[in-house]
Amino acid sequence: MRVKDLKWTINYTSRGNPTIEIVLELDSGATGRFASPAGASRGRLEAPPYPEGGLTAALKILREFREDVVGREFESQKEFDVYLSEYDGTGNYSRIGSVVSLGCSVAFAEAAAKEDGVPMFLWLSKGTASGYPLPLGNVLGGGKHSRGRSIDIQEILVFPSRISSYREGYDALIEVHKKVGKLLIQRDPGFTGGKNDEGAWTTNLSDEDALSLVSDAVDQVSSELGVKLALGIDAAASTLYDEATNSYFYRRRNRYLDREQQINYMLELIDKFGIKYVEDPVEENDYAGFSIINREAGRRSLIVGDDIFVTNVSRIKLGIEDKAANAVIIKPNQVGDLTKTLDAVMEAGLGGLKIVVSHRSGETVFPHLAHIAIAAGAILFKCGVVGGERIVKHMELMRLEEELGGLKPATFNL
Ligand code: PGA
Ligand code: ZN
Repeated sequence: MRVKDLKWTINYTSRGNPTIEIVLELDSGATGRFASPAGASRGRLEAPPYPEGGLTAALKILREFREDVVGREFESQKEFDVYLSEYDGTGNYSRIGSVVSLGCSVAFAEAAAKEDGVPMFLWLSKGTASGYPLPLGNVLGGGKHSRGRSIDIQEILVFPSRISSYREGYDALIEVHKKVGKLLIQRDPGFTGGKNDEGAWTTNLSDEDALSLVSDAVDQVSSELGVKLALGIDAAASTLYDEATNSYFYRRRNRYLDREQQINYMLELIDKFGIKYVEDPVEENDYAGFSIINREAGRRSLIVGDDIFVTNVSRIKLGIEDKAANAVIIKPNQVGDLTKTLDAVMEAGLGGLKIVVSHRSGETVFPHLAHIAIAAGAILFKCGVVGGERIVKHMELMRLEEELGGLKPATFNL
C-alpha cells in the first residue's frame, strides 16, 4: 500500500478547541480521515498532544512529514506505526505530538481497511474480532468535566450487564439519562438542566445523594425495560489528589481525606451502592492503594486503571505484577498510535485484565473508536450517552452489529 497523499485541515473537539483532521490517501484511491480527541483529566504520563510550540508547530511538522511519507509503501498497520514512531524518534511522540501521530495512524488504518475491502476492526484484529462490548455511559458528572458547582466524583456511570443487542443496551442508557434528568428536577432545587463536557447532567447535590439518585434511576429503568443495569464511578482520584499533603481534597465538603480514608471511602461506596465498576479510586502512582482496593473488592466489582496505566505496556505490566486492578482503560491518544494501543491491549489481556476502550471528554465527530473497541475485544465501551460526537460512535457499533451480523455481545459476570 503506497501513500499517495497526506492532507489536513483544522477540525474541532466537542469543547470547541482546535484539533487536526488528517486525510491520508493510498495509490488505489482509498482514503482515511480522522481527528484526535482531547482529554481534560489527563494522566501525567500520556503522550503529549502537541509538540512544543502547540498547533502551529504541529502544522509545520506535518508539512515536513508529508514530504517523507508520500510515496512510501507499507504492508501492515504495524509497519506504518513503527515508521511513524521512528520518524518521531522520542518514544512517546513528544516531537510530533499525539494529535498528528494518532491522526495519521487511524487515517492509514481506515484507508488500508478500505483497500482490503474489510471493516476497520477486522483490519486491526487481522480478521479475528468476533464480539462487541457493552455500552458504558456517564449520566451524572463533575470534577474536571464540569464548571462551577458540581459533584467531586468525576463520573457516575451506568452499563447493562447482559444484552441481546447493542441497541437494547444503548436505549437503556438513554432511558437512565432521561430518568436522571427528571429526578434531578425533583431533588435538586438549583438544577437548571446543565450538562457537562461528556453530556452528563451536573448537579449541586452531594456525591452520595447523586449516587443514590442514579441508583434509583437505574432500578426504575431496569424494571421498566427488563434490562439488567449496573452502576459505576470514575473517581479520577488524581485530580482530587494533593501531593504536598498526600491527601484527597473534596471541594464540595471542603474536606481532606488521607490515603487510608480515601481507600476506605471508595470501599464504602462500592458496598453501599453495589457499584460494579470503579475507575481510578486512588491517584495515579499509588499502585499499592489500588491493590488494596482490588484485593478487597475485585471479586464483586471491576477495579479499573486509567491514569495509572495510560495505555502504556510497561505501566500495565507493573499493575499486573502488583495485582493493582482487574481492568484497564484503553485510550488510543494516550500512546499516540494504533499499534501501541493494541500492544497495550495484548499485554493487559495476557495478565487477565478486562479491556475498557474509552472516549475522551473532548471528542471529535469520528466513529473509528467503535472499531478499535471491537478489535480490542473490549468488555465495555466507555462513551458518553448523548451528544452527536458520542452518538456517532454508538451508532457505528449498532450498524456493524446490524449490517454485518455474526458479532456477539460481551457478557459481564461480576
Ligand atoms: P478525560 O477524562 O478524557 O478528560 O481525560 C476521562 C476519564 O478520566 O476517564
Ligand atoms: Zn478516567
